[in-house]
Amino acid sequence: MAQNWTPDSWRSMPIVQVPEYRDADALAEVERRLSDFPPLVFAGEARKLKAQLAEVAEGRGFLLQGGDCAESFAEHHADHIRDFFRVFLQMAVVLTYASAQPVVKVGRIAGQFAKPRSSPMEKQGDVELPSYRGDIVNDIAFTPESREPDPQRQVMAYRQSAATLNLLRAFAQGGFANLDHVHRWMLSFVKDSPQSHRYQVLADRISESLEFMRACGIDPDSAPQLRSTDFFTSHEALLLGYEQAMTRVDSTSGDWYATSGHMLWIGDRTRQPDHAHVEFFRGIKNPIGLKCGPSLKADELLQLIDTLNPANEAGRLTLICRFGADKVFEHLPQLVRAVEREGRKVVWSCDPMHGNTITAGGYKTRPFDRIMREVEAFFAVHRAEGSYAGGIHVEMTGKNVTECTGGARALTAEDLADRYHTYCDPRLNAEQAIELAFMVAENVRKERDQRGSPEREAAIA
Ligand code: TRP
Ligand code: MN
Repeated sequence: MAQNWTPDSWRSMPIVQVPEYRDADALAEVERRLSDFPPLVFAGEARKLKAQLAEVAEGRGFLLQGGDCAESFAEHHADHIRDFFRVFLQMAVVLTYASAQPVVKVGRIAGQFAKPRSSPMEKQGDVELPSYRGDIVNDIAFTPESREPDPQRQVMAYRQSAATLNLLRAFAQGGFANLDHVHRWMLSFVKDSPQSHRYQVLADRISESLEFMRACGIDPDSAPQLRSTDFFTSHEALLLGYEQAMTRVDSTSGDWYATSGHMLWIGDRTRQPDHAHVEFFRGIKNPIGLKCGPSLKADELLQLIDTLNPANEAGRLTLICRFGADKVFEHLPQLVRAVEREGRKVVWSCDPMHGNTITAGGYKTRPFDRIMREVEAFFAVHRAEGSYAGGIHVEMTGKNVTECTGGARALTAEDLADRYHTYCDPRLNAEQAIELAFMVAENVRKERDQRGSPEREAAIA
C-alpha cells in the first residue's frame, strides 16, 4: 500500500479548483452520507480494466475512451445514453475490425460531472458570479442562486451515475452489443451521411464472417464474446471530497479503490506533483489517467510517474496527451523519449479535443481538421520514436449536434447555432466520431503492420 497514505491525506496538501461551499457542516454531512452508499463499481472490475490496459501498454490492443465533456442533470434520458452507446459501439467495431486488435472500451460517463475552470468567476456585463463548475457543484444558469455551490448535488450526481451505469451494464451485457446487430447501430441521421456507406461495407463483412462462423458451429448464442462486451466508466476525479467518500477498502486484497468509476484521471490543471489531487491518486489502486498538456516538462512527468506508478505496473497509468494540432511535434517527442528511455510502462493516448478549441461566430468550437491533424501527428511521433500509440480520448455524443466545425458534411461557423447543446466543450457528433474512428483505425493498422505481429515473430524465431 502507498506509504503514509489515507483516503483523506490529500486534505493537508495545497489544492486548486475547489468550489467554495458556504455551509461546511452541510458538506460534511453529505460526504458522510455518500460514504455509506453502495459502491458504483467493484474492485474486481477495476482490476480487469487494468489487465486490459496492460495489454494495450504492451502494444496488443487499443484504448477507446469517449463521452460528453460534462454530463448534466437535465439530459438524463435513456435515449441520450443509448445514442451515445450506439455510436461508441460503432467506433469500437470500426477500430476492432480495421486494426484487428482488441479495443478496450471506456466511457467518459456515469460520473463525469465536475469541471475545472480557467477562472473562478464569470462576468456577463456588469454582473460577476461564481463560474459553473459542473452539475455536481452548481447550476449553469447565470443567477446568484444557481451558481451557489450546493453539496446536495453530490447525492444527485451519485444517483444519476448509478442509474446510467445500470443501463450501460444492461446494454453491454444484455444483447444490445450483440455483433449480430452491427447493422442496427446505424442511427437514422447517419444513414444518409457520407460515412454511412463505409460503415455499411464494414458491417456487411462482419455479418458475412458471422455467417461463416455460424456454419462452423460458433454463434452469439454459444459464444458470449460475440453477444456482449466489457464496457468501463471513467471521469475526471476533480471533486476530492466526493471521491474520498466513494473510496473503499477491497475486502479481497485489502487495497483502496475509488468506486465512483473504473478509471479516473487527473486533469492538466490539477497535476502539480505536491498538490492534493496527485496525493489522492497515488493511494487508489484503480487504473488512472494523467492529462499531459504543453506545460508539462519531461522531468516533471517522470517525477509524476514515480509517484503514481512506483512499481511500474503496465495498465496502471495512461498518459492522455492534449497539446493542440500545431504543438504535438514540439512537445510529445521529448516526453516519449524520456518515458521510453526510463523504461516506464504507460499507455499513450491522444486527446485531440482540448488543445484545439477556438471561438468562431460567438461559439466555442473545434475545427474537425485540427482534431484529425492532432491524431495524425500523434501517430507520426510514435512511429518515429518506435513507441506505441495506444489510444484516443474524445468528447463526443450520439446526438446530431453542431458543435465542432468541419467533417464530411463540412459544418461551418454559421451552422453552429443550429444545434449547439453542450454544457461545456464542443463535442464530435455521431458522423464526425465515426469519421475519426475510420482514420484512427487506418493508423492503428499501419502501426501494427510496421511492428509485425508478435505471434508471427515468435513463429519465425
Ligand atoms: N466481445 C468482443 C469485444 O468487445 C466483440 C464484440 C461484441 C464487440 N460486441 C461488440 C466489439 C461491439 C465491438 C463492438 O471486443
Ligand atoms: Mn472538455
